[in-house]
Amino acid sequence: MNGNKLDMCGIIGYIGNKKSKDIIVDGLKRLEYRGYDSAGISTFESNSISTTKCKGKIVDLENKIDEGKHLGKIGIGHTRWATHGEPNLINAHPHNDSLNKFSLIHNGIIENHSSLRIFLEEKGVQFSSDTDTEVLVQFISYLYQSENLSFFETVKLALKEVIGTYGILVMCSDEPDRIIAARQGSPLTIGIGKNENYLASDISAIINFTRNIFFLDDGEIVEITSNDYKIKHIDHDNEINKEIKKIEYSLEQIEKGDFNHFMLKEIHYQPDAIYDSFRGRILNDGRIKLGGIEDYYDKIINSSNIYITACGTSWHAAQIGSYIFEELMSKPVKVEYASEFRYRNTPIDKNSLLIAISQSGETADTLAAIEKAKNVGALTLGIVNVVGSSIARETACGIYMHAGHEIGVASTKAFTSQVSVLILMGLFIAQNKNKKKCLQIASQLKKVPQIIKRILTLDDEIYKISKKFVQVNNFLYLGRGYQFPVALEGALKLKEISYIHAEGYPAAEMKHGPIALIDNNMPVVFIVTKNRFNKVLSNIQEVKSRGGKIICISTILSKELDNLCDHLVFIKDVEDMHTFILPLLTTIPLQLLAYHIAVLKGCNVDQPRNLAKSVTVE
Ligand code: G6P
Repeated sequence: MNGNKLDMCGIIGYIGNKKSKDIIVDGLKRLEYRGYDSAGISTFESNSISTTKCKGKIVDLENKIDEGKHLGKIGIGHTRWATHGEPNLINAHPHNDSLNKFSLIHNGIIENHSSLRIFLEEKGVQFSSDTDTEVLVQFISYLYQSENLSFFETVKLALKEVIGTYGILVMCSDEPDRIIAARQGSPLTIGIGKNENYLASDISAIINFTRNIFFLDDGEIVEITSNDYKIKHIDHDNEINKEIKKIEYSLEQIEKGDFNHFMLKEIHYQPDAIYDSFRGRILNDGRIKLGGIEDYYDKIINSSNIYITACGTSWHAAQIGSYIFEELMSKPVKVEYASEFRYRNTPIDKNSLLIAISQSGETADTLAAIEKAKNVGALTLGIVNVVGSSIARETACGIYMHAGHEIGVASTKAFTSQVSVLILMGLFIAQNKNKKKCLQIASQLKKVPQIIKRILTLDDEIYKISKKFVQVNNFLYLGRGYQFPVALEGALKLKEISYIHAEGYPAAEMKHGPIALIDNNMPVVFIVTKNRFNKVLSNIQEVKSRGGKIICISTILSKELDNLCDHLVFIKDVEDMHTFILPLLTTIPLQLLAYHIAVLKGCNVDQPRNLAKSVTVE
């Protein structure tokens, strides 16, 4: 699969007495989970810059670095998920200027790269890649020649002209005893050693070498040698002092940050994960670009049958995806558990499309379903989080989710990223036919990260509700339309991590069975939106009259609803959001509810019993 990949790059730099390539390769391996379209390294060899890059994984880079090459003690290295340009060798970092005087690695996006490129081309600069990063290094080189400033002052000046996000490391062969680093929006950590210093996008890359670190803040630029450093802000000339912190805790604790569990961290990371899922894919004019499937556009829209297959949480996202596609494409879309689909007699053929959704990209049943589709010549499309995973490789085309590494076994940020990608894919397919509607939904999707930040502030309220339900044995989750798969997902989260039996149902189906379960001990979670609001209200009434305890997650406020609920979590100011968008919002309180109940019960939320993050057996 050939996704239109976004930026989740890893960067590392070393300056000291050791062979920098050993440290850089080790660090890059630790950063590899961020993605590995390509990798590269630059070191100083006899004061000139030597660069090696390759497409693929760090181990491919390692194999490519000849013995005898890259012996230098100062170097920078990069592992890339593509933003601008195809994931190929030419676009791999480091990028050097035409004179090979500067070498630069970059994590982020230079938004004004097009205008800078035009400016430089007019000055005669010839580019060898499509990347925004090469634009930056060529720009630095251009200013260096025209302004007669030091290396440090040149980089500082260049960054004043840059719009966008960056964490950069730069080397210059005129000053081969230093690295310059700067940050705007993308993280950068500096590790202090004895006669050696380290730079990295992620502390995990350098923690094995030093525990004394400080972080650069936005707008800061640092000049670093093996035994000294100087920090300034790009907008002024005063030196900035930073306190060096000693990292006492383990790598796992570092990765958890201020959160008690990975699951909680991942719940809180959702604004970023969703932003990353659409970053670079919603163009300035609101149209959707999905590089990994655009060559297959005709085949996708002309496919006679569409199947979506997945397992677990990904299956719930698939369900939402099927609703979106049916609404936008006006043709039936069938969702299949991969474990069922692989063995059933289904009329899938060479004109069919099989979409496989998977966080890990390794789920055995999903892989088998893909195999089956490929055997009959169907087009296969993967929506996958883990870059380079088996499903990503086995599918003909696809879209990466870019949710980042998910560690908690109970999937949270991967689910909402999957839904976000499915919305994007729906819009991508429909945008030529239904431009206005698609533009409106795309602009609403862009607002989702901010709205989720707001929803996360309801945490205390949800915690208080959770305390009332620690002792119960059963839960029922009910929702209609797009909120039915959300109900399924809410129930799955609770049962996975708290071991409380929970079921999700379409609200109106309650009368065909689950209603028999309702008594004074039965909590029922209703997910309420404007969709069939009055009908859901009647369902709530039915539960109320049988003594059930009612918890409502609602995007609508009404007096009647308020009177009926025992507990109401109100998500305000989202009434005008499209029904496609609402699952991204209503899911969040359900994740928090499950999380708090499980923690209060003393369960191991990150590693619940009997479950695995990646199920590679049948
Ligand atoms: C396991 C995990 C679930 C996940 C499911 C599908 O059961 O515990 O969280 O939803 O596998 O995994 P996938 O990686 O294919 O999305």
